[in-house]
Amino acid sequence: MSIGAKAGKGIRCHNEALLRLLGKIAHQCGTRAFLVGGPVRDMLLDRFGPDIDIAVESKAQTVGKEIGRRVHGRFVFHSRFLTATVTLPDSSHIDITQTRTETYSRPAVLPRVKPAPIEQDLFRRDFTINAMALEITPFRFGYLLDPCSGQQDLKYKLVRILHPKSFIDDPTRIFRAIRFAIRLGFGIEPQTLKLMRQSIKSSYPSLLTAERILYELRLISSETRRLQMIEAIKREKLTRTCLDWSPPSHFLSKLKLLSSRTRNPELFFILILSNLPDTGNFPITKQERESARAINRFHLIHSRLMRAKRLSTIYRLLRPIPEPALQILSRIEPRAVARAINLYLNRLSSIRPTVTGRELRKLGLMPGPKYQRILDRLLYARLDGLISKEKEYNMARRLIRQKKV
Ligand code: CTP
Repeated sequence: MSIGAKAGKGIRCHNEALLRLLGKIAHQCGTRAFLVGGPVRDMLLDRFGPDIDIAVESKAQTVGKEIGRRVHGRFVFHSRFLTATVTLPDSSHIDITQTRTETYSRPAVLPRVKPAPIEQDLFRRDFTINAMALEITPFRFGYLLDPCSGQQDLKYKLVRILHPKSFIDDPTRIFRAIRFAIRLGFGIEPQTLKLMRQSIKSSYPSLLTAERILYELRLISSETRRLQMIEAIKREKLTRTCLDWSPPSHFLSKLKLLSSRTRNPELFFILILSNLPDTGNFPITKQERESARAINRFHLIHSRLMRAKRLSTIYRLLRPIPEPALQILSRIEPRAVARAINLYLNRLSSIRPTVTGRELRKLGLMPGPKYQRILDRLLYARLDGLISKEKEYNMARRLIRQKKV
């Protein structure tokens, strides 16, 4: 379907009915509404993502609540950011944001925001290709606002900032410039590239919090061309400046191998974490931290795993390693090691002794650390084929009687 007569060319829009409904709701709430940022860029490029970003000139909370009600979505309002999110039953999102200006008190800090009309809102954005808005309110539906010539940069395939201080105010935009350029197959406009490199040379990215840098690395981990992005980041010395990290070539080969074997963004991100110099204070989950550490320390058990003759040895060596780390290692380690890890993941890890703690109790064993030790001994004997399921009970009885277990 084609909309946007005033935009000079037809814009193909895959969700016109929904956009018209959102615009109508905003109008009924007494404000204008626009599709903004990425979705407009993508629509002009004939690419479609699942999420919708709407900007309204006032009443973001009321509009968001009403949209949530009408589309049967879950509504959340973030008062600090003047943003509402509606999550639809298919888990896609509609973000509704108050149009705003932003002022940066210092480089690399989050900006102070103040409500402002749509035209000003577009000028506070990162790149010309992200600074367009498509009005969706009735009577002006499909009207494209493009004050920074984003359409032209789309045509010439260029990522271009809007003002010279952009990479100083917000150095995360350096990650973004690289990400958009590589995702879309665009170039970075020469003056933009020069300012980007100046910002890196002057160490502005080092003022960013670890949280914001990691957020960018997470976003990169979800991209199809993530490896090229990491290579570009290395070339530009971006993470050397802000994380003291320049991925060595042998590590890039591992990322490449992982990427060729799975699309999973979380595994890619954890592998990156495992190579960072210090993740001690990073805001990451316990599982991410422990997985990254396990990958880092895997060389300590590597040769023992290669030599392992018994299944119980493989089991014991791999049991302490969190599953995401094993998923990664099974894809980047040499074949013999990968085989042992897959054997553990697919078979050994789910084998349990048939004798339960309750049965040990019935056999007269008082609760305590001996419980686990006996259950482990039963399991290892089972794994190594020393006893059958049926004989476990007898072995348990024998072990309980022995003093030294
Ligand atoms: N934005 C910005 N500066 C940033 C982050 C975001 O100006 N540091 C603006 C851009 O206009 C961007 C919009 O906020 O288009 C929404 O941000 P985000 O959802 O991160 O970007 P998208 O362009 O939607 O990118 P993606 O396709 O990756 O979702």
